Amino acid sequence: MSTVNKVYTSLRGISSVIKDIGRLREILSILIKHGFGVLITRLRLVEVIGVKNLSKNQDDANSHYSTSQRIRMALEELGPTFIKLGQILSTRPDLASPELIKELQQLQDQVPELPFEQIQAQIETELGQPLAQLFSEFDRRALACASIAQVHRAVLAREKIEVAVKVQRPELTNRIERDLNILYFLARRSEVLAPDLALIDPVGIVHEFEKAIYQELDANRELTHLQRFQEHFAAFPEVKIPIPYPQYCSQRILTLEFIYGVKITLAPKQFQLKPEELGPRLMRVLFRMIFQNGFFHGDLHPGNILVQADGRLVLLDFGMAGRLSRPQRDHILDVMIGISQQDYALVARAFYDIGIKMPGASYDYAAFEHDVILIMSEHFEDRTLGQIEIGQFFMALVRGAIAHNIRMPSTYTLLFKALMTVEGITKNLMPNLNFIEEAQPLVQEVLAQRYHPRRMLQDGGYLLLSMSKLLRQFPDTARQLLHDAEQGRLSFRVELKQWDCWLEEQRNLRQSMSLSVGFGASIIAASLALDSGPEGWFGLNMPSLVLYGIGAILGFLLLLRHWR
Ligand SMILES: Nc1ncnc2c1ncn2[C@@H]1O[C@H](COP(=O)(O)OP(=O)(O)O)[C@@H](O)[C@H]1O
Ligand SMILES: [Mg+2]
Repeated sequence: MSTVNKVYTSLRGISSVIKDIGRLREILSILIKHGFGVLITRLRLVEVIGVKNLSKNQDDANSHYSTSQRIRMALEELGPTFIKLGQILSTRPDLASPELIKELQQLQDQVPELPFEQIQAQIETELGQPLAQLFSEFDRRALACASIAQVHRAVLAREKIEVAVKVQRPELTNRIERDLNILYFLARRSEVLAPDLALIDPVGIVHEFEKAIYQELDANRELTHLQRFQEHFAAFPEVKIPIPYPQYCSQRILTLEFIYGVKITLAPKQFQLKPEELGPRLMRVLFRMIFQNGFFHGDLHPGNILVQADGRLVLLDFGMAGRLSRPQRDHILDVMIGISQQDYALVARAFYDIGIKMPGASYDYAAFEHDVILIMSEHFEDRTLGQIEIGQFFMALVRGAIAHNIRMPSTYTLLFKALMTVEGITKNLMPNLNFIEEAQPLVQEVLAQRYHPRRMLQDGGYLLLSMSKLLRQFPDTARQLLHDAEQGRLSFRVELKQWDCWLEEQRNLRQSMSLSVGFGASIIAASLALDSGPEGWFGLNMPSLVLYGIGAILGFLLLLRHWR
């Protein structure tokens, strides 16, 4: 960005109109309460909102909490937009420290239940029919109340099927829009007033966040994701995806078959299920999503994984999902193979290939590899199987890559977060579980597929396709070449990198030689002319004086060239 442009953006940023000064004031007082008064001072917001007394006392009152804890508490109090922001931040090891990520994973998303009348109005507006016509039963009390949606049990009037209706809170979009406006205002202001913050591109982060939150607010999108998972797991009895009822869904409503089950963490006790079966089952589901389907659930925390009495896993909540192309899957597979075989160089290479190289930056592969090896030995050596934390290792790699100007695409950071969460759940079920070992059978299976004749034929097919294009063009090109050669019209353009330097040297040499010859000739001629006329200045006659003068000038020029 040009300097002029940047200054313009900055000015625009600082003068951004804030539409909702009341909410800004509310946000800032929550920040002060949790000990972030210094931010208000740095962003010169005291004058803007008229908050006085950014007392140190508040900071002192919070001093027994760590910064990460205070961030988490502030986000919870700030409401849905900020809770979502925290959840997204927890998938970004390049922006948040490991300690903050851990804390953000604890974000409490429980909010008071909305009065039933509001929920009823929202459903009737969205689905265009009175509630009583749609449902023969509808529980007034919600099963779950989160900041974005509330879930109620109901029975479909026509189909007589028990369902769970997930209803988005009314007025949410409006509220999120207002908060986003304030976030943009703060981000622009920090770009201008806090250059250290500008380095992390706050406006870019808010923009990315805006995209993510609007995607999550779209229940149609959640429905599409769910249908895709359903196709992928149709023939896989270990997991169940609830059946959706699209005619009772809208942009703000999702209606699914009702599932009787308990949170995965409670399942062993509740149903006397074996944890050593449940843990690996969940891992198999995740690995299948990653390596076989290239489409994975991006929010696999225990609240979104239920277990039925027969031990079958049920996945819920499909707003956030990640996609992996086949080459991306191959790279992850390489990383897994590298880890399991302790082949540090393979891991470094695969990770390097995955990363986005920042434009204009320089790279030192040897230094990158060296750091990857260090991170690997830190995470794998001298550890028992149960102590290895693969998710943490990936997060450390992402953080380490930043120092080498390499950024991970967000689909990978989401993937690593999914790995980390599932690893956490399974370790909770069986502390000695070895993630890598469990992944082996599937890795072998996928590897066999990678080198399966059909896949090789497919990959070979791409190669043949581009080769055949080349071969098709070749006869025409060859005929033209032969024709030109026959006519003596074949010419080659040769570019030598050193050619210009060489020419320059030659030119200098020629000039120096001319000067030397001129200098010598004028001195000799001047000496020969000494007796050719009456004496003038310095006892020399006119011709020799002129010739000596010329010689002196040429000599001086020669010396000058030499010094340069
Ligand atoms: N199909 C369902 N059957 C039974 N309970 C459900 C169903 N869908 C959601 N729930 C309950 O509602 C809770 C919240 O649903 P979820 O889709 O995870 O929404 P949120 O995005 O608010 O987390 C779940 O943890 C679960 O207890
Ligand atoms: Mg959920």
